[in-house]
Amino acid sequence: MTVVVENLTKRFRRGSETVTALDDVSLVLAPGELTVAAGPSGSGKTTLLSIMAGFETADAGTVRFDSPLPTGSDPLAMTWRDLAFVPQALALLDEMSVRENVDLPALLDPPAAAERGEPADDLLARFEIGHLADRYPSMTSGGEQQRTAVARALRLHPPLLLGDEPTGHQDRGRIELVIGILRAHAYAGNVVLISSHDEAVISAADRVLTLADGRLMSDKRTGVRR
Ligand SMILES: Nc1ncnc2c1ncn2[C@@H]1O[C@H](COP(=O)(O)OP(=O)(O)OP(=O)(O)O)[C@@H](O)[C@H]1O
Ligand SMILES: [Mg+2]
Repeated sequence: MTVVVENLTKRFRRGSETVTALDDVSLVLAPGELTVAAGPSGSGKTTLLSIMAGFETADAGTVRFDSPLPTGSDPLAMTWRDLAFVPQALALLDEMSVRENVDLPALLDPPAAAERGEPADDLLARFEIGHLADRYPSMTSGGEQQRTAVARALRLHPPLLLGDEPTGHQDRGRIELVIGILRAHAYAGNVVLISSHDEAVISAADRVLTLADGRLMSDKRTGVRR
């Protein structure tokens, strides 16, 4: 599957002031590489990911999914099996245990879970949170909660994974752990786009998109495939 973003523009009005959060951004994301959207705070990273995920609408431009997703290409009809998102604020459910949070996409879509994906306990082990499986997320650290949210996103092995600073709460070692797992997901033939301003993440990317004031300033392949 390929994601084609064409001429995306998004403005926010604040009183009499207008902020251009995205300014005519075009790009194509292909499977098989870990792409990082970099750029300073306020440059438009979250806005780009939110529009791609269908959480926000653009003022102009389009997002197209080139091959049909399992449940079709209408963003409003997409589920965890199509597109998985790791929001900056994580959005874990605190009435459910860590294991149940990771398993949520499977609970919502049993046929997809039967057909594909990775068991929740395997994901918990890979993300080094297996010992926390029966706790509520609020009884775990910020880094552990973030790894729970990334594990949940991978539960149904989605062809498109978007993560908004998915390593922002991790220490060096765990940044490597999470990035290694996300890169492996990309190399398995999926589209993976995450935002970050962390040098450790940027230097591990196959492709780096740099945003500034809503504009795509550069789009570089790093050639670091490993
Ligand atoms: N709902 C909103 N209303 C008004 N302005 C907004 C809104 N969301 C974002 N903006 C503005 O749009 C611009 C881009 O914001 P965005 O959140 O996409 O940046 P970002 O690159 O994700 O920053 P950060 O690294 O701090 O997360 C900023 O100037 C921001 O203040
Ligand atoms: Mg942001």
